[in-house]
Amino acid sequence: MGRDARTLSLWDALRFLWHVAIPGTLLGVVVPNRAIMSRFARRDRGRRTHRFIRELRARYRSELLWVWFPFRRTLLVLSPAAIDDVLASDDNAPDPWLKKRAISRFAPEALVASGDAAEGNRRTFNTGVLDLGHVHRDADAFAGIVAGESRRLVDNGGPALRWPDFQSLGRRISQQVILGAGRLDDTLDDDLARMLRRANLLLRDASSFGDLRRRIETSLAPAGAAPPSGCLMHAAARAIAAGNTSPATCVTSQATFWCFVLKDAVELHVPRTLALIAAHPQVQAKVRDEIRAAGAPTARAIDGLRYVEACLVEQLRLWTPVPLLLRRAVRPSRIGNAGVDTEQQVMIHAGFHHRDRRVFGRAADAFAPDEAAAGALPAVYVFSAHARSCAGESLVRFVLKGVLATMLAGHRFELAGPAIAPGRIPHLYDHFGIELRAVPDARTAAMRP
Ligand code: HEM
Repeated sequence: MGRDARTLSLWDALRFLWHVAIPGTLLGVVVPNRAIMSRFARRDRGRRTHRFIRELRARYRSELLWVWFPFRRTLLVLSPAAIDDVLASDDNAPDPWLKKRAISRFAPEALVASGDAAEGNRRTFNTGVLDLGHVHRDADAFAGIVAGESRRLVDNGGPALRWPDFQSLGRRISQQVILGAGRLDDTLDDDLARMLRRANLLLRDASSFGDLRRRIETSLAPAGAAPPSGCLMHAAARAIAAGNTSPATCVTSQATFWCFVLKDAVELHVPRTLALIAAHPQVQAKVRDEIRAAGAPTARAIDGLRYVEACLVEQLRLWTPVPLLLRRAVRPSRIGNAGVDTEQQVMIHAGFHHRDRRVFGRAADAFAPDEAAAGALPAVYVFSAHARSCAGESLVRFVLKGVLATMLAGHRFELAGPAIAPGRIPHLYDHFGIELRAVPDARTAAMRP
């Protein structure tokens, strides 16, 4: 493989738009588009995109390729070492135009699209409230919310669990973790959904935007009082009271972003992980053994579930939810042998990297929690890495592990569809069409001879 960056021919640059930029946009810049996801998943469109990038790398004999994305000259970085260097470097910022435009439609000052994380203390505020790198200070309260809602779903959800069931789970858990136990607000969810649909088109729904901001401001200081303890709003209000924020922190934007990502994480990653577990009976048996051995889902028990966590991380690797990590060069710099000018874009295709046979070998297209738990797989970038990595990583791992552990504690899951073939996991999975049967242990026992 050559060390120099190569520029794509005009024909290949157009094909790159066709295979990468256009499907990515149609699938949803902010939230997945149901009709397109179903269509693309049926046609295995994700595999075609993967094959195309592999073909480019082989033909140009380089892991640094100059492409257009969508209309800006962009360096596509495929080499694992260079990927890590880019994410560790402060020569670039995670606020390219397209990402900023999409996020700003609903959370204009959110840290995730802020070029300068120090502005208004945004990174410190987020990592502080979300307790990045630690078990959250309110983990006991969150464990209670997660266990109560997950039990409610498996006990009352009917013979099959479908997408609307997981949507409701995501709404109920995310709102209570953010606003406080028992605090549910349907209007907030409706406003958020409307704004996100519009943000996919890079537009803003002005009336939902205004309503949602007012709701969040009220929940930060309900009638001049403090939010209830044991929720993110409480931690945020304490940071404000302690003088750790300024108007430039834009707490409302940060909290709006949490509402979006926490709901999205639960509704998407719980059914997808259950689907993979259900499609691999040996994994399911092992997961359930770990959960049984851990006992009641206390914060401590949830934190210790390493095999459940490996299943979750494997799901995130196989169906990487943020497949493109885009950066904007803030000064002239070098990536490998490529010179990058200020304002040029750098792209890391995490989705491609996580399925790259050169990196992951035979595990690339397989669900491999045993290897992941043993630390035998290369690094993944599902939460990005280094100084601008996901600020909610510790919190979201905890919440998702808690849901999975509670659901799998008393039930075995069967996947009615869409089917998954072990060893050849599809590149896109139509979670909108998911159907999972939860078989309670009592029934399993009764069926034994
Ligand atoms: C499994 C679910 C999640 C995944 C896979 C994920 C992944 C990511 C990734 C890849 C980034 C970097 C994006 C980029 O550089 O373009 C990011 C940033 C961020 N995430 Fe998450 N995230 C998840 C859930 C959450 C949750 C639940 C929260 C908060 C409640 C959160 C808060 C943030 C914040 C604040 C940033 C911006 C960090 C910065 O720019 O310094 N994330 N996330």
